[in-house]
Amino acid sequence: MTEVRGQLRFILNDRDVVLDNLPATRTLLDFLRLDRRMTGSKEGCAEGDCGACTVLVGRLKRGQLVYETVNACICFVGSLDATHVVTVEHLSAANGPLHPVQQAMVDHHGSQCGFCTPGIVMSLYGMWMQNADPSVNDIEVALQGNLCRCTGYAPIIKAGKSISAYGTVVADPLIVERQSIKARLQALKDGKRVELGEDKDRVIVPASSDDLAEVYAANPTGTLVAGATDVGLWVTKFMRDIGPMIFIGDIADLHGIGEVDGALRIGAAVTYSDAEAAITSRYPQLATFWSRIGGQQVRNAGTIGANIANGSPIGDTPPPLIVLGASITLRKGDVRREVKLEDFFIAYGKQDRQPGEFVEAVTIPPLGEGEQFACYKITKRRDEDISSVCGAFRVKVEAGAVADVCIAFGGMAATPKRAKTVEAALLGKPWTAATVEAALSAYAEDYQPITDMRASAEYRMVSAQNLLRRFLLETTGEGERLVREVA
Ligand SMILES: Cc1cc2nc3c(=O)[nH]c(=O)nc-3n(C[C@H](O)[C@H](O)[C@H](O)COP(=O)(O)OP(=O)(O)OC[C@H]3O[C@@H](n4cnc5c(N)ncnc54)[C@H](O)[C@@H]3O)c2cc1C
Ligand code: FES
Ligand code: FES
Repeated sequence: MTEVRGQLRFILNDRDVVLDNLPATRTLLDFLRLDRRMTGSKEGCAEGDCGACTVLVGRLKRGQLVYETVNACICFVGSLDATHVVTVEHLSAANGPLHPVQQAMVDHHGSQCGFCTPGIVMSLYGMWMQNADPSVNDIEVALQGNLCRCTGYAPIIKAGKSISAYGTVVADPLIVERQSIKARLQALKDGKRVELGEDKDRVIVPASSDDLAEVYAANPTGTLVAGATDVGLWVTKFMRDIGPMIFIGDIADLHGIGEVDGALRIGAAVTYSDAEAAITSRYPQLATFWSRIGGQQVRNAGTIGANIANGSPIGDTPPPLIVLGASITLRKGDVRREVKLEDFFIAYGKQDRQPGEFVEAVTIPPLGEGEQFACYKITKRRDEDISSVCGAFRVKVEAGAVADVCIAFGGMAATPKRAKTVEAALLGKPWTAATVEAALSAYAEDYQPITDMRASAEYRMVSAQNLLRRFLLETTGEGERLVREVA
């Protein structure tokens, strides 16, 4: 039987915080600004888009203390047990010298109205701690989730490039204090389940996946929360109650990344950032795609497990994972079952998941010999945007003909869905433009996309068809030849 602790404990800058009561919906930003009157972190959008609320959260991950940027506006306080929260107030003492990041921003005129500035400073700080000599691209990635509406990004990027001219990482307080903070967090992580409050204000942080199985089976109407990059918006935009909230994002045995029989197995609580190296080293075709999921703050919190579990028709990971033949492990109590990912999505908002059952892991097989694979994301803007259409393709060509093919799209139907009629129109035929052109009409059998704020139905259909043309050009080398010809 897991021991229960009735207090949530974390470190906020240099102070210990102990809470024995907490609304399940309390966001970190409201806690900072309203409860603690720490108004340095700003609220711009309250939906994870602008980055004005960015703070650093330090957690013990696989034995290491890792600080990552997160959007405080959609981060629940209930997710912070045994963490070190660092806000912009911690960067320099009142009337003390500015932190190197802040001084660089001042000297390079990186701030005008200043509303975005605390968030930008924290994003640059998070980057600089890990990379003291960033390239322009590194800075752009770090700032993918930060909007500035008046300064323009050139001065901010110049500031980001020059931080090390104002101080060294080794002398930075968070680095100097690393061992003592790590020891304090280890002491806070006592292996107990955290349980606070009642009814809609009940917050539960299970101690392990076995404990989660027990808690969720007993509370099947509770809301599982991993990175809260979806659930956060249910609260800030739709004022929904989420209690009892069951926070699973910090359960160590849901953080595994490993190999099982040659396949990659990723635990349900692994974030996009933590999965990136394993995914992109095995499937380098996903490198650009991966960096376009959300912005840095969203990738630091959001999980692949929840991207699957939420069943969204425009979630980015299902199309490539379906095409790669992934399966998921579902668990209820002690009972586990494996489901092919493409069978998990039944209808809009309906997945093959029972009350009290949760996604434990996703397993992704390697590409077979001679298989070619690609995944494309179409959005209105490059960074921090949800797909209008997301298409994934895998083909095996033998003796010039299509020996095997799998195609799946997001944004084209009520669920992520395979293009089985298009696949049938390609199978066994020569892998040529003529075959592809002849197969395009089959899209209408597979998909009747909708018009919404992201794209019209016509735009979606034409984009999806063009992506197949693109895949052909890329896999045959014809695209490169055409580019050379035009050049
Ligand atoms: C600014 C912004 C940008 C975004 N950009 C993208 C994008 O580019 N592409 C994209 O696909 N998505 C995007 N999203 C959506 C979101 O980040 C993803 O869907 C993410 O994967 C959700 O993960 P999470 O851990 O934060 O989920 P949470 O919000 O914690 O949970 C989401 C849902 O999954 C359920 N759940 C969580 N874990 C499990 C589990 N193990 N088993 C069963 N149910 C579970 C929860 O109960 C909830 O219903 C964006 C969101 C924001 C705010
Ligand atoms: S306030 Fe905009 S991301 Fe948090
Ligand atoms: S300085 Fe005004 S929004 Fe960035």
